[in-house]
Amino acid sequence: MPVPPPRIDVLDDYDALSRAGADMVADFLAATPTARVVVATGVTPMGLYRELAHRRERGDLDATGVTVFLLDEYAGIEPEDGRSLLGWALRSFVEPLGIPPEHVVSVPTDGDPDACAAYDLEVERAGGYDLAILGIGTNGHVGFNEPPSDASVPTRMVELLPESIDSNAAYWGDAARVPRRAVTIGMAGLLRSRMTLLVASGASKREIVRRSLLGPVTAEVPASHLRASADLRVLVDRAAWDGSGPT
Ligand code: PGA
Repeated sequence: MPVPPPRIDVLDDYDALSRAGADMVADFLAATPTARVVVATGVTPMGLYRELAHRRERGDLDATGVTVFLLDEYAGIEPEDGRSLLGWALRSFVEPLGIPPEHVVSVPTDGDPDACAAYDLEVERAGGYDLAILGIGTNGHVGFNEPPSDASVPTRMVELLPESIDSNAAYWGDAARVPRRAVTIGMAGLLRSRMTLLVASGASKREIVRRSLLGPVTAEVPASHLRASADLRVLVDRAAWDGSGPT
């Protein structure tokens, strides 16, 4: 059965995208103060997180009841390591929003398959995620669900593909500093989130955004599976949007 196109909002620029994303998240948290929220790191959602922090400073946002689920983490990296994605999420989202540290859940960073399965089972028993805030890699990955990843893949350890290593090199200054493996929440769990917010900015994402949203749903483009989510919202800026169709 063909998957209907998702709701896509095209914003003028990155700042407008960040404000629109913050509006959506703030509205969601106002309605669901104890939301279970998957939080991505990466450059794209940082403006959105800063916008949320401003709203908290103004007294317009209370996120103290939220539980944060870290989307992914490099394997074998301790939280104190400057490259830890948990550390990045703490600095950019958890602390600025006043979320208690005990409300933060990481993935099993040793990647032990039993621990990953237990993690997924526990999340599922608790009712799954309420909101997933996601970016997209130039290779179509979501979290570190590298291609090929279909809709059924669980939380697990993955090998990073060269494209991901290159893009992550921008975070840490040098590809040699990028860990080669990571643990990621699987597509299966992400696809059961009640609401999913996908953000993409800049010309480097233009081609993969078009393939993900308008092309075939395929494991070769993991983000294309998000179109089967219960409530997918996509925010892109003009630079990242090519609505010319799937050709
Ligand atoms: P970015 O990363 O927001 O830094 O572009 C997105 C991703 O690789 O998932």
